[in-house]
Amino acid sequence: MTSPVAPHTPRVALLGLGDIGAGWAALAAAHGWTTALFDTDVHAADRATGLVARRARALAALGRADADTVERGLRRVKVARSLLQAVGDADWVIESVPEDLALKQRVLENVGQVARPGVIYTSSSSGLPMSEIAARYKDQAHCAVAHPLNPPELIPLVEVVPGKFTAQETLDTVRDWLRALGRIPIVLKREVPGNAVGRIAAAVWRECIDLVLTGVMDVDDIDRAVSLGPGLGWAAGGPHLTYHLGAGDGGVEAFLQQLLQSFEIWWGSLAQWTKLEPEQVHALTAQIEKAYGAKVDALREARDRRLAAILKALEAARKG
Ligand SMILES: NC(=O)c1ccc[n+]([C@@H]2O[C@H](COP(=O)([O-])OP(=O)(O)OC[C@H]3O[C@@H](n4cnc5c(N)ncnc54)[C@H](O)[C@@H]3O)[C@@H](O)[C@H]2O)c1
Repeated sequence: MTSPVAPHTPRVALLGLGDIGAGWAALAAAHGWTTALFDTDVHAADRATGLVARRARALAALGRADADTVERGLRRVKVARSLLQAVGDADWVIESVPEDLALKQRVLENVGQVARPGVIYTSSSSGLPMSEIAARYKDQAHCAVAHPLNPPELIPLVEVVPGKFTAQETLDTVRDWLRALGRIPIVLKREVPGNAVGRIAAAVWRECIDLVLTGVMDVDDIDRAVSLGPGLGWAAGGPHLTYHLGAGDGGVEAFLQQLLQSFEIWWGSLAQWTKLEPEQVHALTAQIEKAYGAKVDALREARDRRLAAILKALEAARKG
């Protein structure tokens, strides 16, 4: 493969300015990077400058970015009026268009017509494999999935998933750039539907939905059960470490001796369904809206404050 130019601060092009694209843009701006934004929906493109500025400044207000760097980065954000304008001189194209394989394939092929050779291309896809997204693309070696969590500008973890033909140099460069953006990249060894994080979230969420729909718990209590129960422990250590520390000095071996049988009984009784009927979707939506109301902006701001506080506490604990 042609080695890509790997400047420390690449010129970034963001394709798709929904929740995720705008989050990536806010993150890049907060690091002072030169960023081009493109969306085929002119309203999304027009909204983007204000949205990205608000989200980047919120990072500074939460203590997650330096205010002067944010302002410098925001001056380097340009809304492009064509794909060519967006990606023509980009080193790194980050695609965040809707989760639709045919659309993602088309976007990548179009990028191939106008981007410079060797451009690094990552997709934010939550679960589509790059081997399929890039199936008809001429330069698969420079493509990978880089799946952020929502909101991308706050949650540092990014899953990097190589396709069958992704080059090691591409993975190294993507990891370097993500680290330069303050992210924590983890690399999957092979493609699986939903990547790792989506699968874990889907498994836990299915059980939570089931507990709500079968009347075991209300939405707010089950959310509390996760965020103050396993979620709190997992923020400090993840499930394997948690159980390794769960049976005194005996470690995971003692834990498995004591509790594997119980887990096997629970696993046997977990929800197994793979589809929600329309009336179940309706019931779930009604219960979530009853628990939280419709003030999404206020709820998001409060959630982001809690996220920033958790990250700050974890960083302080790591240093201490
Ligand atoms: N929302 C999440 O929680 C989340 C989290 C992680 C990853 N993702 C992934 O990120 C991607 C984007 O998700 P989202 O929630 O931001 O979607 P979204 O629907 O909010 O935004 C997508 C944007 O892409 C634009 N778009 C459509 N076609 C385009 C094209 N050809 N060129 C440029 N722009 C185009 C749309 O106009 C829209 O503004 C998806 O692959 C999704 O799976 C989503």
